[in-house]
Amino acid sequence: MATDRTSLQERLEALKRAETDSGSMLENDKQDFNIDSKMAQAEKTLKKEVRSRERGEGESAEAPSGPVGLDIGTSHIIVAQNERRYIRTTNELNAFFTIPHSKFARNILVKNDVFFFEQDDLYYIVGYSAENFANMFDTDTRRSIKQGLLCSDEKEGLTVIQAIILSLIQKPKRLGEILCFGIPGDPIDGIGSVTYHESIIKMFINRIGFTPISINEGMAVVLSELAEHDYTGIGISIGGGMCNVCLSYLSFPVLTYSIQMGGDYIDSSAGSVVGIPATKVKAIKEKELSLIAKPKDRLTTALHIFYNELIQKLQKSMERVLSASNQIPMISKPIPIVLSGGTAMPEGFTDKFQKSLANVRLPVEISSVHLAEDPLNTTAKGALIMAMTEETPE
Ligand SMILES: Nc1ncnc2c1ncn2[C@@H]1O[C@H](COP(=O)(O)OP(=O)(O)OP(=O)(O)O)[C@@H](O)[C@H]1O
Ligand SMILES: [Mg+2]
Repeated sequence: MATDRTSLQERLEALKRAETDSGSMLENDKQDFNIDSKMAQAEKTLKKEVRSRERGEGESAEAPSGPVGLDIGTSHIIVAQNERRYIRTTNELNAFFTIPHSKFARNILVKNDVFFFEQDDLYYIVGYSAENFANMFDTDTRRSIKQGLLCSDEKEGLTVIQAIILSLIQKPKRLGEILCFGIPGDPIDGIGSVTYHESIIKMFINRIGFTPISINEGMAVVLSELAEHDYTGIGISIGGGMCNVCLSYLSFPVLTYSIQMGGDYIDSSAGSVVGIPATKVKAIKEKELSLIAKPKDRLTTALHIFYNELIQKLQKSMERVLSASNQIPMISKPIPIVLSGGTAMPEGFTDKFQKSLANVRLPVEISSVHLAEDPLNTTAKGALIMAMTEETPE
């Protein structure tokens, strides 16, 4: 792992030195949903099984030999690639933890294959390793992305994201290979700029050697899950930092937006009322929360309360945004809603979401609500499908 880390450090520094002309990159910026005959090939891929795994300790990045889908989420960064018989996704936790510089600490980190880099006299412990450290110090990990978006005032956030992406993928075998990454919809009532977030990530992806294109996260959910409905319906990703909503009509993202509320909000709100760190709440929630079972203690009571709040706010936002829009097409039959993202995973979530829809009035009729096949990998899979339908530039 020491060699891998050194090369990661070197690659990060080389990338920092590389001055790229951002203007030329932004010319590639147009998001184009002209889904042509390549869609047939992509649709075959859609039927493949997803095999997902966490990046292994000490594992070095590989050079992709085809289009790549990338999900840069508040909680996870996931790379998806198309193999002959399946879709392969590799994920790393998008979190970090800093400890002071010392020779002793360095030796221990290297010896234990901990994923870290050095900057400003600090060791940045990155990914799943950061979660172990936070639990050990009874505190929280830090996030490189807050509520779905990079902040311009956090330079270390970008360095952490770059380190994680470089631990998952290297320069592609064919220079200029398409890489499609998910971007949030504009937050309503929120903070942060999607344009800034998207442009900074595009510059970085371009420097690695890919041709970057972006896809709205909710649209990626539609591409991944609604082929049988001609890509017509509402795709919702409920992640760590936000909820992304996309109403798609025949594969066109008619309406997209986000609200900046997700699993992190539930963890910190429940943690603060019960008095335990959010990182610990997250671990308990992921392991055992059921929204069907009666809450058994103060923490699960709090988790149920904040889950209910999230569902209500999300559905109220759908009522408000969809009703105010004059872009809703005349759709003759009811359309499906598909839910994805880690926060939609607890037992009973889909049912709760469906029942609670009776409390809002949407301008479209809903035929069904279902959970994506693999909620944590849906965005990366949809981004891969999008990447496969794009032409690689000569
Ligand atoms: N089994 C589970 N049960 C409950 N919650 C879970 C489970 N697995 C993951 N989560 C939660 O899902 C969230 C992460 O989901 P996801 O990976 O989809 O988010 P993200 O894409 O990184 O974030 P975002 O899209 O908001 O930027 C975290 O809050 C995590 O705690
Ligand atoms: Mg997400």
